Amino acid sequence: MHEPSSNIQSVLQENRLFPPFANWCSTAAVPNHDAYEELCAEANRDYEGFWARLARENLDWYQPFTQTLDESEAPFYKWFADGKLNASYNCLDRHVKAGNGNKVAIRFESDAGVVTILTYNDLLRRVSKTANALKSLGMVKGDRAIIYMPMSIEGICMMQACARLGVIHSVVFGGFSSKALNDRIVDIGAKLVITADEQTRGGKNLPLKSTVDEALTMGGCEAVEHVLVNRRTGGYDKMQEGRDVWLEPLVEKQLAKCEPTWVEAEHPLFVLYTSGSTGSPKGVQHSTGGYLMWATQTMKWTFDLRPNDVFWCTADIGWITGHTYITYGPLSAGATQIVFEGIPTYPDSGRFWKMIDDHGCTIFHTAPTAIRSLIKASEMDDKVHPKNYNLSTLRILGSVGEPINPEAWMWYYKNVGGSRCPILDTFWQTETGGNMIAPMPAAIALTPGSCTLPLPGIQAAIVDEAGHDVENGQGGLLVIKRPWPSMIRTVWNNPERYKSGYFPEELGGKYYLAGDGAVRHVDTSYFQIMGRIDDVLNVSGHRLGTMEIESACVSHPLVAEAAVVGKPDSVTGEAICVFIVLKRETPVGEEAKQIANEIRDWVRKEVGPIARPKEIRFGDNLPKTRSGKIMRRLLRSLAKGEEITSDISTLENPGILEQLKQSL
Ligand code: WTA
Repeated sequence: MHEPSSNIQSVLQENRLFPPFANWCSTAAVPNHDAYEELCAEANRDYEGFWARLARENLDWYQPFTQTLDESEAPFYKWFADGKLNASYNCLDRHVKAGNGNKVAIRFESDAGVVTILTYNDLLRRVSKTANALKSLGMVKGDRAIIYMPMSIEGICMMQACARLGVIHSVVFGGFSSKALNDRIVDIGAKLVITADEQTRGGKNLPLKSTVDEALTMGGCEAVEHVLVNRRTGGYDKMQEGRDVWLEPLVEKQLAKCEPTWVEAEHPLFVLYTSGSTGSPKGVQHSTGGYLMWATQTMKWTFDLRPNDVFWCTADIGWITGHTYITYGPLSAGATQIVFEGIPTYPDSGRFWKMIDDHGCTIFHTAPTAIRSLIKASEMDDKVHPKNYNLSTLRILGSVGEPINPEAWMWYYKNVGGSRCPILDTFWQTETGGNMIAPMPAAIALTPGSCTLPLPGIQAAIVDEAGHDVENGQGGLLVIKRPWPSMIRTVWNNPERYKSGYFPEELGGKYYLAGDGAVRHVDTSYFQIMGRIDDVLNVSGHRLGTMEIESACVSHPLVAEAAVVGKPDSVTGEAICVFIVLKRETPVGEEAKQIANEIRDWVRKEVGPIARPKEIRFGDNLPKTRSGKIMRRLLRSLAKGEEITSDISTLENPGILEQLKQSL
């Protein structure tokens, strides 16, 4: 396990507490600490009864469930299994039926600043037409569709339309390469790929459809019958006869009514690929009932959502945060939300603050990386500092995806929240479906840099390698001791990997292993996440497996060996540092720089821009044990520029360390 970094140490010594004080606290969904304790006690008294109540309160069921939790095939748990429902019905129809059809569902702002407003009535019409379009292409319940689209109304409608038909969607982030896209199309066995001609970000048009074309030539895509293309920029119009179909004319001619397909609660709503410590990305499979219940409930508990709130989560639909806190949670909870196509730094780094001001945003949820980059930008240019905008509508701020350091937390708290708004540091994962450890804003006092306490019903704990609880103040493995409704159901196509990866025998086979190290504060028992215990990096909140990057590196003709480690970075949290052995002599000077750039671009093309290494170092070899294992611990120290003081007696070739110390 990683040693707690100096940052973690500083958080553990962090004793500042910010008790809830906002004037809206008394009317919050969970108004005080006692109410939080009462919910936790309810879950402890009657675990299944607690979850059954939430499932009934949060969702409309076509056929009510009679059984709550089925553990007969643990760890393949089933929740609400004999109930039937439809996710899109819960996100749209039920609000229209309740008389809220004219409420604004989405305030979409394009990269260029054009705003489109859709009510729940509008959205239901569009999703129904889109679902009918999918039907006309032969898509039925259980089929799989890959969605490779920009942040757009079309993207959200497409996910909803799949859900309406029981089609299992798998969204691939628009920044992934054709190779990464091909892997996912093949693994999921997609019958349909949905994309756009191009995407627009930061004033630039970037390819999508041409990447799909390339991915489909790579083999293994025989199941793909059609490619559905949204015309976004008009910049690419090569279509393959018989296979490719333009989205708009097809949707246009459909009826605006589409009966939802009722599915079993356990029917997979989607599969989302994420990086693991070994091998290829894994397809995290989520259910319809349990997932949607928690997406909805956490909108009310974590974000204290109210009818007049204007919610904004800045994530992309290509990640889990975009699934739960854009496509499903806010709509199921009946919220008005802002959806943004672009990036925080275009046309300038005041974009987020301007949009909060323009749209009257009340709940703003973003990633620490974005905050840190905007802090830097406002230090360089006072005009983009949040103080220049009216942010008085804000009442709650959120942070997600990576640890937020106390300095960034305080800046966010003071300069964006005007020292009035609680900051919710939400810890969770692709696999958990929704927030797990996060403060309820009116119930929990905040400490900068801590995600505080588990939400009611979530049995989070910290254990040692043998599965025994550790004491406060001691680091260990973060586990969840009991199954919960929104948890991952399996790894698509690979149940064995699900079982061994998440429910390891060493811990007794019953605890869900999150893959993060954590420690609880001695006094408050608050959780502090220490970062991944496996070889997964978190770069700007994006999960990347070191293995994926290493295999991309060694596929370069010049590269013999590569080892990837993370290195702390003041903006992106972690940055990718690669140690490389070439098949030829080790380059120096200008030549080394040139080859390093070539390899960077290669990785960018193989995996995607998010995987482009920040630093590359060359050596004649890598530090290895006598049995040939790469000593990553040493590489991590080298990358950080630390003196190596630890024991290197097992190292076969100590001389190599001197050479690898040099950065280019
Ligand atoms: C990390 C994103 C510290 C953690 C929702 C986890 C965090 C991984 C936090 C999951 C947080 C997420 N504080 N670390 N508040 N939230 N992480 O699957 O290492 O993209 O295991 O889900 O991000 O990343 P994923």
